[in-house]
Amino acid sequence: MRVIIEIDSEAASRRAAKFVADLVRKKPDCVLGLATGSTPLATYRELIRLHREEALDFSQITTFNLDEYVGLSSIHPQSYRQFMQINLFDHININPDLTNVPDGRALDFEAHCRQYEQRIKDAGGIDLQILGIGSDGHIAFNEPGSSLGSRTRLKSLTSETIRDNARFFGGEDKVPRLAVTMGVGTILESRRCILLAFGAHKAMAVKETVEGPVTAQVTASALQLHREVIGVFDEAAARLLVRRDYYADVEKAQTLVESGHFPSPSPSSAPSLKP
Ligand code: PGA
Repeated sequence: MRVIIEIDSEAASRRAAKFVADLVRKKPDCVLGLATGSTPLATYRELIRLHREEALDFSQITTFNLDEYVGLSSIHPQSYRQFMQINLFDHININPDLTNVPDGRALDFEAHCRQYEQRIKDAGGIDLQILGIGSDGHIAFNEPGSSLGSRTRLKSLTSETIRDNARFFGGEDKVPRLAVTMGVGTILESRRCILLAFGAHKAMAVKETVEGPVTAQVTASALQLHREVIGVFDEAAARLLVRRDYYADVEKAQTLVESGHFPSPSPSSAPSLKP
């Protein structure tokens, strides 16, 4: 995993938005995997700014969200569909027909999950997946113990996740107990993932994800098996990582490679630094 540590969450979010914007410019009809929660908010704000001030064009992109609460309709204020409308979609020139969020009120969840997976395949797969991480180490709603090969399906939320998300609902008792979520296996098929984590309350999850063993008890640790994951953390979330100096050295080398200053006999043979 490539690890980028920024001074604060604003700088980290700008960095994440730049990865997204670079892809959208290079491949205007790319497929983005999107996340909800407080973590990606500043990244979305930066993408909106890039759309307004630098004409970043989203008209051809397709999006797939990671998850949705079961029981909430798409117009429920706490639904993830509403979250995406309010925090991103309503402010950019995205084609609404190309935005996909699982349906929390599907009549047949098994069929709906199968169709969601099929829609991702039909769109050509996800080029870039944005991920947050739960304090229990989950990605999407793949709670501890989830199969690392799992596909889109229903999951029960842990009491830790219910507690973490109670702030959005005005009390733990109002948080839905079930969600539809992409599986760990679904996420691992994305071509590239950007994992975001900010704040000291994420430090242990980040440590276990990046430097711990791969285990279903910390589903984000499965990202170690992926060929192209970029972890973008703020100082607080990265504070328990023991190999911070090495990650910083890799970033310095990466900057040299990108600027063509890598000390190589021929610039064209400069290696690209894959994690
Ligand atoms: P948060 O949630 O961004 O609100 O911290 C992350 C998650 O639970 O995946």
